[in-house]
Amino acid sequence: MASNSKIMAEHIFPSATLVDFNERQKMMKQKPMIIWLTGLSGSGKTTIAQKLEVQLLSEGFKVFLLDGDSLRDGLNKDLGFTVEDRKENIRRAGEICKLFFNAGMTVITSFISPLEEDRRKVRSLFPPGSFVEVYVNTPLEVCEARDVKGLYSKARAGIINNFTGISSPYEVPHKAEVVIDTTFFSIDECVYKLRNQLDLKIDN
Ligand code: ADX
Repeated sequence: MASNSKIMAEHIFPSATLVDFNERQKMMKQKPMIIWLTGLSGSGKTTIAQKLEVQLLSEGFKVFLLDGDSLRDGLNKDLGFTVEDRKENIRRAGEICKLFFNAGMTVITSFISPLEEDRRKVRSLFPPGSFVEVYVNTPLEVCEARDVKGLYSKARAGIINNFTGISSPYEVPHKAEVVIDTTFFSIDECVYKLRNQLDLKIDN
């Protein structure tokens, strides 16, 4: 498989768009960004991402939301929750973000993305300043007590394997641009704080 993909890579010729990226930004009237939310299942990532999307759209920005559960329902249906599958999940998510970014869109993502290395690899796909890592730092005890999807109790009962925080690791980000504390602040306050740390306007 690996050697086959190496041979394939020798025989492909990626071609660039004729549209200059600065021109595209002007046409889109925004600086495209990747706003990458990471955190445990049930930490509030998706709710924050959804509200932020509504907020930015209401301000006239062109934004798209990319969510772990949704991606796994389609393109990534073939992937499970082993470390290898999660790596591939995040790699594909990063490549999708790159396509949207090149199209001039801002993307808000909501993936557990538990491994530092995988988050770093995605970050490296984008110019400095355009990838904003947002750590939603809701503690495990709080996520587990909420158990919105009922998955923590299944993980504790051994019905679900490789569950993040229980039987699979979550590496806390140390270089996140924004840390969101859902324990002490409401979701709306978190969205407000996050919004105010984003600079999506193009310089004139
Ligand atoms: S990631 O680790 O590869 O980034 P992703 O964000 O796509 O995960 O998917 C996480 C979602 O899948 C969770 O919010 C939860 O709804 C569901 N899920 C199902 N099984 C697991 C599991 N073993 N570990 C974590 N999440 C799981």
